[in-house]
Amino acid sequence: MCGIVGYIGREQAAPVLLNGLKRLEYRGYDSSGVAVHSDGSLRVVKAKGRLDVLDGLLEQGTKLPGTVGIGHTRWATHGAPSDINSHPQTSDGGLFAVVHNGIIENYLHLKNHLTRRGVDFVSDTDTEVVAQMLEYYYKGDVLEAIRQVTERVQGSYALGIICADCPEKVFAVRKDSPLIVGLGEGESFIASDVTAILSYTRRICRLQDREIAVLEQDRVSFYDPELYPIEKPAEQVEWDVASAEKGGYEHFMMKEICEQPEALRKTISPRLQDGKVVLDDVCLSREQITRLSRVYIVACGTSYHVGAVAKYAFEKLLRLPIEVDVASEFRYRDPVLDERTLVIIISQSGETADTLAALREAKRQGARTLAIVNVVGSTIANEANDVLYTWAGPEIAVASTKAYSTQLAVVYLIALYMAQELQALPPEELDGYLQELQRLPELAEKCLEDKETIQYFASQYFNAKDMYFIGRNVDYAASLEASLKLKEISYIHSEAYTAGELKHGPISLMEEGTLVIAICTCRRLFEKMMANIKEVKARGAVVLGITTQELADTLAQEADWQFCVPRTADFMLPSMSILPLQLFAYYAASMKGCDIDKPRNLAKSVTVE
Ligand code: AGP
Repeated sequence: MCGIVGYIGREQAAPVLLNGLKRLEYRGYDSSGVAVHSDGSLRVVKAKGRLDVLDGLLEQGTKLPGTVGIGHTRWATHGAPSDINSHPQTSDGGLFAVVHNGIIENYLHLKNHLTRRGVDFVSDTDTEVVAQMLEYYYKGDVLEAIRQVTERVQGSYALGIICADCPEKVFAVRKDSPLIVGLGEGESFIASDVTAILSYTRRICRLQDREIAVLEQDRVSFYDPELYPIEKPAEQVEWDVASAEKGGYEHFMMKEICEQPEALRKTISPRLQDGKVVLDDVCLSREQITRLSRVYIVACGTSYHVGAVAKYAFEKLLRLPIEVDVASEFRYRDPVLDERTLVIIISQSGETADTLAALREAKRQGARTLAIVNVVGSTIANEANDVLYTWAGPEIAVASTKAYSTQLAVVYLIALYMAQELQALPPEELDGYLQELQRLPELAEKCLEDKETIQYFASQYFNAKDMYFIGRNVDYAASLEASLKLKEISYIHSEAYTAGELKHGPISLMEEGTLVIAICTCRRLFEKMMANIKEVKARGAVVLGITTQELADTLAQEADWQFCVPRTADFMLPSMSILPLQLFAYYAASMKGCDIDKPRNLAKSVTVE
């Protein structure tokens, strides 16, 4: 969702804020703005549209002198994108300027309350209520006003605040929305995400719910919700600046697609030692695993699609009942959980609102929770009983690619670890799978070598209105992700179906020229897929088959186009078949002239419900 950044130091604030916002633009990009303490007052510049518009208005920051300020890039929730609804939002008397990520759920009630007391509102946002309340409760002490406001607002928030009366301070507070404080030499920062400030500092502190930070040029003070001073240890961020930059690629998405072999290596290698799976500090003993009656996998979007693959892997290797749930459904459907349930939570960002709520529900019901997360120290990572990190580095493109691949790798590691502890497989079979897992990075490298074939295929079909992805078993799970990728960035309508369901309805959509992408890597179900391909061809469909070399000749008898991926263990095949389909989505979107890294209406980190 929205991105916020704040700066206090010796440099001019506006260029630093714009630089930070550029790196946060993936979180929201329908409007942006900054507020700076300038010549004794708060000056606000904001505009609807991409950050370039603001950059132009500010002439790269030179138009707004001052060394203390806050900035925002917005993904609209309350009020359409417009200049007036952009952040920073200010209070009636101009004392406070506020940037916000999250949703103030009771804003209407609070707004009515203040309106009755003569406060004039100008925007449709929930955020304005925070700025107005701060001024309303302010009696000369900003910290006390923040305390009063956070006591009254319900919902989620990460807030950056400046006050005209305190020209040498930036205030920050958060609840259920991410916010970090960066500690530099003679300068301090706030940001939604560490990538915004990586070029200035890698020393950070993470605010916990309702903790308040007061930033001054040479120090940062922290307070608990009752305003008692607290100490917070600083941590060093491992990500480097280059990993959050395009590094010569036209788009982050292509960079991240190409980074997958290396990300897989970093995620897998440290966890395979002496022919065994070693899972960091995860507490899952043989006794605990034996006691498990059920495993749930809960996530959203691409991370949910990892769960779809995991179901096949876990059931095959462990013969344990697995349920895979979309987090927004799980959290409200009163799932049946107890201490014999393991809930695996998957999230790249570690901040997705529904996924976080699902984690909390699982813990409330006494289930054991294990999170697979990419962002170190994120809320989900902090709150789960155990965490396994995907070492993918920062993923900036809104469309997830390397997070998906590394999440899959971690899922395989967990399934194989449990099989190892339970001695659920003959040693040679387990050993064979571990060797396949070790080879995944090298196989991914090989698979990504041939981009041209996919690029050419995309050039033939990027104008299509609809496409269908079909598969069975793990190939169906990969179809779900392939279809999401395509629709997300190219806006081509696409659906994923289990091939066996075609005859139950979707086949009525097949007509002359309909494009069907058939993933058929599963040997066991290959003949069934061939029959499904024949059925759609008989209705005029054009078929691209994704398969492995030894099945290629047979597939060629029916498919119009085909692409071969390297063979690995059956349950790991989605790690291969997704790669050409990520490329296909990328090239189709690129040929259509879409904004690949920032697709319309989407934001990278969905921190509101
Ligand atoms: C993936 O391409 C999407 N941008 C989206 O579906 C994403 O996977 C989903 O919002 C979940 O995010 P998370 O992994 O950070 O929880």
